[in-house]
Amino acid sequence: MDMLVRPRRLRGNQTIRKMVRETRIDKASLIYPMFVIDGENIEEEIGAMPGQFRYSVDKMAYELERLEKAGVTQVMLFGIPAVKDEAGSQAYAPDGIVQRALKEAKRQFPNLYYITDVCMCEYTSHGHCGLLKGQKVDNDSTLDLLAKTALSHVEAGADMVAPSDMMDGRVLAIRTILDEKGYQDVPIMSYAVKYASAFYGPFRDAAGSAPSFGDRKGYQMDYHNRREGLKEAGLDLEEGADILMVKPALSYLDVLSDVKMETCVPVAAYSVSGEYAMVKAAAQAGFVDEASMICEMAVSTYRAGADIYLTYFAKELAGFIQEGRIG
Ligand code: PBG
Repeated sequence: MDMLVRPRRLRGNQTIRKMVRETRIDKASLIYPMFVIDGENIEEEIGAMPGQFRYSVDKMAYELERLEKAGVTQVMLFGIPAVKDEAGSQAYAPDGIVQRALKEAKRQFPNLYYITDVCMCEYTSHGHCGLLKGQKVDNDSTLDLLAKTALSHVEAGADMVAPSDMMDGRVLAIRTILDEKGYQDVPIMSYAVKYASAFYGPFRDAAGSAPSFGDRKGYQMDYHNRREGLKEAGLDLEEGADILMVKPALSYLDVLSDVKMETCVPVAAYSVSGEYAMVKAAAQAGFVDEASMICEMAVSTYRAGADIYLTYFAKELAGFIQEGRIG
């Protein structure tokens, strides 16, 4: 056979396949999203997300311990308050659920790194990500509340804040208040390129944060748009974002790749609740192999450009990396 190039030469056995891998993953880049809820003695499984739970502050230690053991050092906290109101006031209450969870978690597990999701939708009675004016979410008056929320998280011990609301100008508003109060060293990871997505369905069930009317298309991005991702990324960089996130992950790898190529900051990808739920449901039905799906989804996201990966499968992935199954 007259054939000089044979790609199969580099696939001959596991050793050479590992040697020539283009994508390598490290546990240090994983972030585990975790739900904390007001109340006591609560460890409730989330219906649409088998294996994921809402923890009250007194119960979350078990999960944090499992994470630390698995070698996952970053946690992203989401709060579910007992009471919600028009202005989402529990989001920035000094004794709010995230603030209390942070203090306790930092006391018990000081070596973990705590990131908080900054948004209003889990805290507002109407489930939208900001203050309403009529039927619309008002951008500029929401900025004050987001800034207050971020500040209260940092005062309670957050190592990093992550605004996910998609109001215009929120990174600047948060950066400004943090700097004013002497927190200029606390980084902001912005959900810069966040699409209005059906993949958030299970999360809204988990957090009770589905909008009571309308949808989020007036602030989250239209999934027909790719170049607009760079517009959003560029703006957040100008406003002082340290890390840019693309969300969801799997259906947006083109956008992720663009953001990676066109910017020079770390890029995060969030494999959201619907991605988790799809894998779980298909695996439970016996249609796919769960572990293989988790690995392939993760590696493809890193391959597309992610430096950081947020996933509900963080513990499992850390295990697969440890075993050498991927990475
Ligand atoms: C808050 C927020 C949401 C998610 C992360 N932060 C929900 C939403 O925008 O509706 C979704 C995460 C997931 O689906 O796993 N705004």
